[in-house]
Amino acid sequence: MAGRARRPLLVLLLVAGVAATAESKVYAPTDRVLLNCGSTTDGLDADGRKWVADTNDNTWLTDSGKSSLLMAADKVDNGLPSTIPYMTARVFTMEAVYNFSVNPRDRHWVRLHFYPSSYNGIAAAGFHFSVSTSTGITLLRNFSVYTYTKALSQAYIIREFSLPPTPAGFLTLTFTPTPMGNETYAFVNGIEVASMPDIFVDPAIMVGFADQTVDIASSTLQTMYRFNVGGSYIPPSNDSGLTRHWYDDTPYVYGATSGVTYRAGPHFQIRYPSEIAEYAAPPEVYLGTRSMGSDPRLNQNYNLTWTMPVDANFTYVARLHFCELLLSRANQRAFDIYVNNKTAQSDADVIGMTSEKGVPMYKDYAVYVSEEPDGQAMWVALHPSVALRPQFYDAILNGLEIFKLNDTAGNLAAPDPEPSRLLAKAELGAGEHEVPKSKPHPHMAKVMGGTAGGAAALGIVAAICVVWYHEKKKRDAASAGGSHTSGWLPLYHSHTSNKSSGHLPANLAGMCRHFSFADIKVATKNFSESLVIGVGGFGKVYRGVVDGDTKVAIKRSNPSSEQGVHEFQTEVEMLSKLRHRHLVSLIGFCEDAGEMILVYDYMEHGTLREHLYMGGKPPLSWRHRLDICIGAARGLHYLHTGAKYTIIHRDVKTTNILVDGDWVAKVSDFGLSKSGPTTMNQTHVSTMVKGSFGYLDPEYFRRQQLTDKSDVYSFGVVLFEVLLARPALDPALPREQVSLADYALSCQRNGTLPDVVDPSIKDQIAPECFKKVADTAEKCLAEQSIDRPSMGDVLWNLEFALQLQDTFEGGSCGRRTVGDGSGSGTGRPALEPSNSNGSMASVTTLGTSSTSRAHEACVIMEETDDEVANSAAFSQLVCPTGR
Ligand SMILES: *[C@@H]1O[C@H](CO)[C@@H](O)[C@H](O)[C@H]1NC(C)=O
Ligand SMILES: *[C@@H]1O[C@H](CO)[C@@H](O)[C@H](O)[C@H]1NC(C)=O
Ligand SMILES: *[C@@H]1O[C@H](CO)[C@@H](O)[C@H](O)[C@H]1NC(C)=O
Ligand SMILES: *[C@@H]1O[C@H](CO)[C@@H](O)[C@H](O)[C@H]1NC(C)=O
Ligand SMILES: *[C@@H]1O[C@H](CO)[C@@H](O)[C@H](O)[C@H]1NC(C)=O
Ligand SMILES: *[C@@H]1O[C@H](CO)[C@@H](O)[C@H](O)[C@H]1NC(C)=O
Ligand SMILES: *[C@@H]1O[C@H](CO)[C@@H](O)[C@H](O)[C@H]1NC(C)=O
Ligand SMILES: *[C@@H]1O[C@H](CO)[C@@H](O)[C@H](O)[C@H]1NC(C)=O
Repeated sequence: MAGRARRPLLVLLLVAGVAATAESKVYAPTDRVLLNCGSTTDGLDADGRKWVADTNDNTWLTDSGKSSLLMAADKVDNGLPSTIPYMTARVFTMEAVYNFSVNPRDRHWVRLHFYPSSYNGIAAAGFHFSVSTSTGITLLRNFSVYTYTKALSQAYIIREFSLPPTPAGFLTLTFTPTPMGNETYAFVNGIEVASMPDIFVDPAIMVGFADQTVDIASSTLQTMYRFNVGGSYIPPSNDSGLTRHWYDDTPYVYGATSGVTYRAGPHFQIRYPSEIAEYAAPPEVYLGTRSMGSDPRLNQNYNLTWTMPVDANFTYVARLHFCELLLSRANQRAFDIYVNNKTAQSDADVIGMTSEKGVPMYKDYAVYVSEEPDGQAMWVALHPSVALRPQFYDAILNGLEIFKLNDTAGNLAAPDPEPSRLLAKAELGAGEHEVPKSKPHPHMAKVMGGTAGGAAALGIVAAICVVWYHEKKKRDAASAGGSHTSGWLPLYHSHTSNKSSGHLPANLAGMCRHFSFADIKVATKNFSESLVIGVGGFGKVYRGVVDGDTKVAIKRSNPSSEQGVHEFQTEVEMLSKLRHRHLVSLIGFCEDAGEMILVYDYMEHGTLREHLYMGGKPPLSWRHRLDICIGAARGLHYLHTGAKYTIIHRDVKTTNILVDGDWVAKVSDFGLSKSGPTTMNQTHVSTMVKGSFGYLDPEYFRRQQLTDKSDVYSFGVVLFEVLLARPALDPALPREQVSLADYALSCQRNGTLPDVVDPSIKDQIAPECFKKVADTAEKCLAEQSIDRPSMGDVLWNLEFALQLQDTFEGGSCGRRTVGDGSGSGTGRPALEPSNSNGSMASVTTLGTSSTSRAHEACVIMEETDDEVANSAAFSQLVCPTGR
């Protein structure tokens, strides 16, 4: 199809890419120091940046290092992006001052790099310290890197600050160990001080107070979040000289509907207008967007929302970056912007503000965030401006940054989050993740892979659960007094009777609730066999009702199994850290009386498998099946790439894909999952083979090396299971058919696969869609993991298949002939630009769509072929006509 769509697309490209100009500029700092603290030699980090030695006779430490020691970390964590600067530290026993001479006219970045490790035998937990500047700002106070990283499950952190110009011409950083007996120290692994262009000039609008602004120019800012919205991670080396990290925003998109992402083609040019600082964000950020989707009805009924936990009692500035990539007239796409549920701006129209396509802009909105009982967060939401009656009910965002401003007392520091005991314990058992210091990896410094390592490295508060736990625990401690906890859960302990509201507090915020054993007994009618809905890896699963009417699934472990304890802990650990529309959510747990019980959202429609065969249920339509596979693929893709570490599920199968009341697929059962290889040139985790037969990756089986591609293999089996509606292993069948993977592959290779497809869906599948899905499944089952696609590729292919199916069904593109051989490309008539307005003509169809599916089906292509990539972008525009 892509091939056929090519010619018209080329024409469009010419129309769109007329003005090819502006090379992106690279900022050259007027002064810059990267200090490799505690090291006596210079070295390069994984990005190739040079870090200079911080020896005792250096010019930066004011006392020539008398009060400090050069030390080396006792172990290497393979979550580190590079050995430099993290493997050495300067350790302070008393107050010490670094003094940097700086250009007095420029703002400066100060980035502090910390790696929590024991240093020369000093335990990681022994470091508590404060850092302040000569400009009178407290950056950190009684800070424990160990506690912080432990609570958020990070290998290292970078704290990034932006300091206003210092007329004195020098900038000092004072490290002060917190006095706590004689055992506390301060440390730092790396310090970056670099001039930056003035991208914080104009005051920010105070949201909710029309005539008030906040002065950013004179403030010190701490970067809390920085997202390349709708795009992927941008490393410091690709940030036009400003060396910022830009992360993927996906994990912070809130709610069920996360919109669609779009990326402009390779020839699209970004033109910075003179009024926007050229360096506000690199072109890469502006070249991609997240928008609401193409269904105007759906868009009017939801907000495209991001939510990001922050510290209480500070003013924050949300900087929203926009660049219109598709439309070029005013009032085609206008929307309202809400920050923390208050209207920050109504009727924002990017073209209205920039007057041209491809011209970037940003807006700063400030809000004060006070302490909230359940933890506080920044909310940024977009909603189509219905009042303006724009051509498309849609909204876009290209980049998002959240900065914390110093308070009036010059403080930026917040209390540490509460450490999680389970995580600490899991860490102890995670020996295989640690590379002994005696043999550090030879290529370690060269390998970057910052994507995985850094997802939360800016000091982003990722584990909301833990923060909330902290707050909650304080309150509970006050009210409940001596409640005990056996200490293996990272969750708070309270009594359900204290709860005032009749509804579960659990939701996206990762709040986990404790149930008493009595509560559970009531909920399950004393573990009535009639309520058993499954027998899981470590015990039975019951249907239950809590709080009068809330349906839950309750998983009770078999307390006698040691294996059970471990898997239970893994699952709690994983689930309390992961929140995603396509992963089941944990509501709470019960650990009374030696029980290990987990309480989940109830999945009305049960497992995928029971809708395919042996469930006595009516067979699912092909459309539903594909939808569910796409959802599951999305969940797995998130596991592999969305969290800080790659998480390998290890037990992907149709009984672990659940379906809720709205037919949304959710991946479940994290009992076997593993934090996968992260960076450091290590591509696998060695482990004992676990998982389910029939789905096991042969390479994993042979070499006992687990990679995310093992999940891809299992998912390939799931796809064939969905097509053929038969179990992965069926010993009752003739020998060559026992293993579904082998059988389906042989059918696929000799062309007989269509003959063995589940008869109940055979007539529903569009031939092209079938081919796409079967080809994808085949690729997933490649013998060598290296030949298998990534979960992201699988996801893309399935979405594409769905689009082919849509086209076939005729609803979305008004064509019914794709399957009959005469076929043309997706929506070809709309594609023919008859004149220079051709692109507009097709664009207009966007707003009139009535296909609620269409926006889901349209995604960015990840294939390298430029034309193909553009055809996807294009079909996003043209396909969903509902005329
Ligand atoms: C830092 O160095 C500058 C000279 O570069 C000097 O004037 C200043 O007094 C020093 N500050 C401290 C706190 O030592
Ligand atoms: C510093 O934090 C620790 C806990 O992390 C606490 O026990 C101690 O009292 C704090 N010290 C000060 C001076 O605030
Ligand atoms: C800390 O102080 C205690 C007594 O107050 C002493 O026994 C111990 O040796 C000291 N530790 C260090 C590292 O100085
Ligand atoms: C960084 O830029 C280089 C050169 O433009 C490109 O090859 C590389 O893929 C980019 N890296 C990322 C992670 O974007
Ligand atoms: C925030 O401010 C309130 C009121 O001043 C105070 O009670 C609370 O302890 C503060 N919270 C933090 C985390 O500083
Ligand atoms: C914004 O509204 C959501 C519910 O829609 C709520 O959960 C959240 O706490 C609100 N945020 C603020 C800052 O008020
Ligand atoms: C969008 O968010 C605003 C502010 O929180 C809220 O008033 C509005 O009801 C939300 N709209 C929808 C459709 O959720
Ligand atoms: C931050 O501190 C500066 C002085 O260092 C002050 O002028 C500014 O108002 C403070 N910012 C806020 C938001 O209070």
